[in-house]
Amino acid sequence: MKLSDPRILSALPELGVERVGGASLAEYTSLGIGGTTDLLLIRRHSALPDLITLLRGAGVAYKFLGGGTNLLVKDGELPWVMLHLVKPEPEVRLDGNFAYVDAAADLGRTVTFCAKNNLGGMEGLIGVPGTVGGALRMNAGAYGIQIGTYVREVELYRAASRSLVTLKGDEIHFEYRHTSFALDDIMLAVKLELPSKPFKEILNGIRICNEKRRSSQPLNQKSAGCIFKNPPGASAGRMLDELGLKGLNVGDARVSDRHANFFVNAGNATAAQMLSLIDTVRERVRQSYGITLEEEVVIWK
Ligand code: EPU
Repeated sequence: MKLSDPRILSALPELGVERVGGASLAEYTSLGIGGTTDLLLIRRHSALPDLITLLRGAGVAYKFLGGGTNLLVKDGELPWVMLHLVKPEPEVRLDGNFAYVDAAADLGRTVTFCAKNNLGGMEGLIGVPGTVGGALRMNAGAYGIQIGTYVREVELYRAASRSLVTLKGDEIHFEYRHTSFALDDIMLAVKLELPSKPFKEILNGIRICNEKRRSSQPLNQKSAGCIFKNPPGASAGRMLDELGLKGLNVGDARVSDRHANFFVNAGNATAAQMLSLIDTVRERVRQSYGITLEEEVVIWK
């Protein structure tokens, strides 16, 4: 979607918002798939309520883009504009065992920054790509750790009340790859409470997780991580592997040879091809195991 309303275009500079016309979502997502639209880069959290009121008033649909690492976006001209937070400097501020982190901060860099300051707990999250905001929304987890465990406060834009809101940790429910945030909430910042641990000990944990990940996941290929959630008590990856689905493809959309729950873009895959592969695999699992797998990846179609 190309923004053309003069009221919006003239208000953007006052709000400190920069417009990137005709941005390709293929360049903003780890899968390297997605159509084009105008991208609005937001430098001040406080500009969000006015910006969104302006867009809504003009009937312009919007979606919020975080790190784009757990996202499959449809092909072609997109019928919405994208909002994206620009990282502030610094991304993380520490006060004792509390870390105040901007939602646009890179998750991996946040984990290492805290580690260098002898704050641990998040070692397992080290190889999870994306932003802290994305990790919060999904309650990202790996190797027995989930980010929700450490959350004490979250600042967000609440679309329902069109206002900036601060929630206490106990007002938020974190479950496996699911949270109680509304779909249209936009994460802005988080206060984490992390256990004190010597840097060397944290580094050792980080190394172990990195090695496990490197040996089991296709890190050098374009993917959105795991496509399906694990059904209770089972591993979607193992199920797909047992069905012999590794290497199955629709065009350049392909089930990874390394980890069957990672679907990779092996060249110029389209969203249509990836969606077709997802449907095919889900159907095979349903027929063989009687289980309908739920997507873990966020799909905008
Ligand atoms: N397995 C196979 N074949 C495969 C993949 C896995 O046999 O192709 C087996 C493994 O050998 C292992 C078991 O299945 O015995 C579980 O595999 P793994 O340890 O890789 O864990 P997972 O359940 O497949 C989950 C998360 C990952 C996270 C890892 C490590 C989900 C959907 N996936 O994978 O998260 O990195 O544990 O903690 O919960 C993601 O969310 O995008 C993601 C990749």
